[in-house]
Amino acid sequence: MDYRQMGRTGLRVSELCLGAMTFGRETTEEDSFKILDRFVEAGGNFIDTADVYGKGTSEEILGRWLKDRRREEFVIATKVRFRTGPGPNDVGLSRKHILSGVEHSLRRLGTDYVDLYQIHEWDTATPLEETLDALNSLVVAGKVRYLGASNVKGYQLQKAIDLSRARGREPFVCLQPLYNLLDRAIEWELLPVCRTEGVGVIPWSPLRGGWLSGKYRRGMSAPPIGTRVEDAEKHGWGERWSKYATDRTWDVIDTLVAIAGESGRTPAQVALNWVLARPGITAPIIGVRTLAHLEDNLGAIGWRLSDEQLARLNQASDVPLPYPYDWLTD
Ligand SMILES: NC(=O)c1ccc[n+]([C@@H]2O[C@H](COP(=O)([O-])OP(=O)(O)OC[C@H]3O[C@@H](n4cnc5c(N)ncnc54)[C@H](OP(=O)(O)O)[C@@H]3O)[C@@H](O)[C@H]2O)c1
Repeated sequence: MDYRQMGRTGLRVSELCLGAMTFGRETTEEDSFKILDRFVEAGGNFIDTADVYGKGTSEEILGRWLKDRRREEFVIATKVRFRTGPGPNDVGLSRKHILSGVEHSLRRLGTDYVDLYQIHEWDTATPLEETLDALNSLVVAGKVRYLGASNVKGYQLQKAIDLSRARGREPFVCLQPLYNLLDRAIEWELLPVCRTEGVGVIPWSPLRGGWLSGKYRRGMSAPPIGTRVEDAEKHGWGERWSKYATDRTWDVIDTLVAIAGESGRTPAQVALNWVLARPGITAPIIGVRTLAHLEDNLGAIGWRLSDEQLARLNQASDVPLPYPYDWLTD
């Protein structure tokens, strides 16, 4: 496992981050522990969770696993923003919700600091100054080491960074966006912001919830029962079948499968290797339901797709640029 610098900070994280969203949900605590042990054995030090995953169960499982380990060895990332209770203040990025949110996360994680504390999504109802001041106070108090943002627009990230700078507050040093071969829109605006501001990038859903693992193929009419995609279709969530079962997706998957075959890799390994090779990416967050998924996905590191293979994947997944991105080349 290689380690990469998180943006312009001094923090070093493993090139793969392990996502804990499945822990306590589709993955039992016992299996979650095995997955964590194997990830660490492979050299991983970077783990991502959130206050809302499994209604807090994901953080609790991670906390119980951490208890017998040297806390300092790990970079623990969690998030705040989504609804955690029925009350009017149990949601959002107000000072009140952030300050209580971090205490609950620390208790569940069984630790006295979070390495990377991320806003899970933008909050238009709260003044940005209030959110940034509350987050800054956590760094000053030693409860949080670094700040990150997930699910924001380019102008929002730039505005937050500029405002932090102008007010002498801790800035966001990491972006957690949706990014994979099927979802490349962050290349237009968000990645240039990250590049010019020295912000690290840790993509979520690098396999788009399994779409790029090779288990969905052209000609299938529905996802297999028990898969994430089948569940997403039932709930109308992002990686649902009805959104992604398109010719473009099948073209990308055909290319993935062909490249996997010719290089002796699996489609998941090729899809993850593509993300790892993209400019400006710090570490994709791999999501696994089973130990076998982790074994497969760990095979994404330690080698490189050729320039010709990268070009074929870029071409198959290319989307025509809208204005002004087609107009302005830089
Ligand atoms: N910030 C956000 O809003 C946000 C949103 C989502 C996720 N995240 C973070 O990103 C992490 C990863 O996201 P994700 O779970 O969507 O990632 P992903 O890697 O795109 O999808 C993971 C799912 O794909 C399937 N899969 C993974 N590896 C496989 C393999 N080798 N072979 C076959 N199937 C495989 C499994 O689903 P099946 O059950 O179908 O087998 C697994 O649960 C999460 O744990 C979380 O930390 C953040």
